[in-house]
Amino acid sequence: MSIRSKLLKLSIISFFCASFVIYLFIGSQVSANSFPGPIASVTGAPGEGTCAACHGGGPGGGNLTIGGLPANYTPNQEIIITVTLMQAGGQRYGFELTAIDDSGARAGDLTPNDNRSQLQLNSVGGNVRQYINHTFGGTSPSGSGVGSWSFRWKAPAQSVGRITFYAAGNAANGSGDPTGDSIYTKSESIQSLTVFASVSAASFAQTLASESIAAGFGANLADGIVHASTVPLPTELGGAQVRVKDAAGTEINAGLFFAAPGQINYLLPPNLALGPATITVRRGGVDVAQGIVQIVQVNPALFSANANGRGVAAANVFRIKASGEQTTELLAQFNPALPGFEPLPIDLGPDTDQVFFIGYGTGLRNNPTGATCTIGGVNAEVLFVGKNNFFEGLDQMNVRIPRSLAGRGNVDVVCTLAGKTFNTVNIAVR
Ligand code: HEC
Repeated sequence: MSIRSKLLKLSIISFFCASFVIYLFIGSQVSANSFPGPIASVTGAPGEGTCAACHGGGPGGGNLTIGGLPANYTPNQEIIITVTLMQAGGQRYGFELTAIDDSGARAGDLTPNDNRSQLQLNSVGGNVRQYINHTFGGTSPSGSGVGSWSFRWKAPAQSVGRITFYAAGNAANGSGDPTGDSIYTKSESIQSLTVFASVSAASFAQTLASESIAAGFGANLADGIVHASTVPLPTELGGAQVRVKDAAGTEINAGLFFAAPGQINYLLPPNLALGPATITVRRGGVDVAQGIVQIVQVNPALFSANANGRGVAAANVFRIKASGEQTTELLAQFNPALPGFEPLPIDLGPDTDQVFFIGYGTGLRNNPTGATCTIGGVNAEVLFVGKNNFFEGLDQMNVRIPRSLAGRGNVDVVCTLAGKTFNTVNIAVR
């Protein structure tokens, strides 16, 4: 073999060796780019680029969706999200997603469900955002012409208002270079549930009893102002429903008396477990507002004529005359100058008249024994506590008005039931 051919042979070997080294080098670059997934912060969210910074030139015509998002979230709610990228003919598919609030800060926690996705953190505009994106294994198609990734998201412990999910996807041709790939972006927002604050419709106390009447306040709760016109009460009024989930996890639709955008009056279902209950307003099939209220056995409350839990009672006077004649009288009158209701003084009549205060309340019926009352500081005999059978959720209390109150004018009615004090209302005695 001539020197020339030896040299030629050596150079061919070294050419192959060099090629092999170069091949390894390129190969490791390709895997360095594709194996760990995409870089962080290319979801198209504010302050970020997209995968199109590097990839492009593909046929397009596909679409990217973010599935599984509810319209509203509650604190710590956990959901499964599925990002799906469809494009016919793709060989490898990839994605990245982040969840941020309106200030651009990370919202909630993303967690991979399997080895098709993984997490990264990266700072954008001073906010450390969390990213979930494909692993190398996760670039393989999930079916013909589709790549998809499912993972979990947990809502923040406190409501942060609107949360937007930004996703970018790449339907790639698998060529090993970033050309011939189609990039898609998608964003979806969810809102936190607004507050639904429930109180006793009589006393405005913040605890409630089973089978009592509650008033719940919020915003955009119902389509209009609608009153119930049927008994039993409807469970939907003005497009709104109220669901009560008690501490034992039992969920029941409440009967509704009245629904308006800012207020819904409802009847708590019977036999609720004591402890915190979650009250959710659903409007047009979507949960819109929520609140938590403590369920107690009795929550004694008397209605007032001005429907604010104070002042003159929403009550009647019941009189039994010596002749046996019985009358029911008013004890409040409307004063347009206030405007509002004021006491109409009660005439106790001759000594032979028996005169009773018939107070209307709610939250009494579950333990109606052992009630006490004073009127104007004088002990008054309680003759009856329990259901008023004419109106759902309404309870009644019959109390003898002591004759010693004659001439006292305005006096407070202060009662207790099961060790709990009612809201104070008043009457006037001539
Ligand atoms: C900084 C540049 C860069 C960005 C930004 C980038 N990639 Fe890539 N990506 C690459 C390179 C380089 C490769 C390796 C060449 C290739 O395979 O296309 C690659 C590979 C891939 C592959 C494998 C493709 C195949 O053909 O085998 C997928 C899928 C992919 N990227 C998805 C994404 C997605 C999804 C994003 C955005 C969320 C993204 N990439 C953002 C540079 C980038």
